[in-house]
Amino acid sequence: MSDPRKLFIKTYGCQMNVYDSERMAEAMGGAGYVETDSPDDADMILLNTCHIREKAAEKVYSELGRFRALKDQNPDLKIGVAGCVAQAEGEEIMRRQPLVDLVVGPQSYHRLPQMEARTRNGEKALDTDFPLDDKFETLKSRGPKARRGPTAFLTVQEGCDKFCAFCVVPYTRGAEASRPAARILDEARELVDRGVREITLLGQNVNAYHGAGPDGADWSLARLIRELDRIDGLLRIRFTTSHPNDMSDDLIDAHGTCDKLMPYLHLPVQSGSDRILKRMNRKHTAEEYIRLIERIRAARPDILMSGDFIVGFPEETDADFQATMDLIEEVKYGYAYSFKYSTRPGTPAAEREQLPEDVKTDRLHRLQERITHHQRAIQDAMVGRTVGVLFEKTGRLPGQMVGKSDYLHAVHVADCDRQPGDLAQVEITESGSNSLAGRLVS
Ligand code: 5AD
Ligand code: SF4
Repeated sequence: MSDPRKLFIKTYGCQMNVYDSERMAEAMGGAGYVETDSPDDADMILLNTCHIREKAAEKVYSELGRFRALKDQNPDLKIGVAGCVAQAEGEEIMRRQPLVDLVVGPQSYHRLPQMEARTRNGEKALDTDFPLDDKFETLKSRGPKARRGPTAFLTVQEGCDKFCAFCVVPYTRGAEASRPAARILDEARELVDRGVREITLLGQNVNAYHGAGPDGADWSLARLIRELDRIDGLLRIRFTTSHPNDMSDDLIDAHGTCDKLMPYLHLPVQSGSDRILKRMNRKHTAEEYIRLIERIRAARPDILMSGDFIVGFPEETDADFQATMDLIEEVKYGYAYSFKYSTRPGTPAAEREQLPEDVKTDRLHRLQERITHHQRAIQDAMVGRTVGVLFEKTGRLPGQMVGKSDYLHAVHVADCDRQPGDLAQVEITESGSNSLAGRLVS
């Protein structure tokens, strides 16, 4: 038998791309490929790209240019572009970069093995359709299942119907679609059999999940979580990313009553100014968002909040920006991701008059300074508390293990006799620059 071909995948962007890359690797496993961690000896290179912010496409072109030498050495090397840049600019990529053999959009990944076969016949393959079939069902590898690490992502919902004025997701990932609950439960059980202890449910608008349930009814995300909660061997459940307007009462209630659902919630608000929220088409006010968080904290008082912010959105004044700073003071995020607004072709806000770059930069720095302050304070306040830690791997020092707390902080534990996948109670003794340290509580 000939050696298996080697596949190198480089993943950009969000956790859903990480999940998609894993599924593509498994599907290509069925087509005789094994994954390699270097492009140098690969027979196929796939870039799984992200289009959410500026310069993504340019990055892809410069990365592709670097593969020219590899293709010169190995004319059989196939180069593919997947992900959201592929969806948005597929034909342009094919035109501009003759090195590319294959372009596949996020909704067509299940067709990748057939597309690869076509490239082996010397053809080019492009597929950026939005087919209706369940790509994850088709992507499932039928072969032996490799053991997995303790944490995994699981996509339950894709696409978005919200059309925030800055965002490309509704165009690149398409309309909202939820996978049937039974398939998700099957996949979760299989992950647990393979060693997974913590599952993060993924969706661009995950809390809008409404998949067909095995009982014929539409299941909400809360219903799905309650069912996952019953899987023996699964210890933790998380989900991301949520829109405030889809934070239903049953999901808030699940945060208070579902033991495996972790006390961490990523709930982007983008801005604290009602004027800007309206122009962003977010369909809620800052006050409504703050009241929502109060209700969530009433259900689960220790929940750690995380958020996303955009500064320098068109028409954002100093007063608007100050409203965002005020909101941050009120909510106190344990984690937050902040970005300068960048124009995305085809989105409504791209047509509007843009703010000067230096204004955006200044606001971003000021915002990040306050966010870091709160993040630090919340992390430091963990010292003295006893928290659950799921160990993921050995640390750099002998006998040390590293894992994540219930609140998603990295935690180092010395003299630790536990294995990856073990969940233990740890008393936090120290707060370092990016992680906590603690000791096992017997
Ligand atoms: N410019 C800057 N940030 C953006 N995001 C989405 N689109 C843009 C854009 N055009 C940010 C939002 C979103 C996160 C995933 O990326 O904060 O929540
Ligand atoms: Fe984009 Fe999220 Fe708004 Fe949907 S809800 S358009 S994914 S920012």
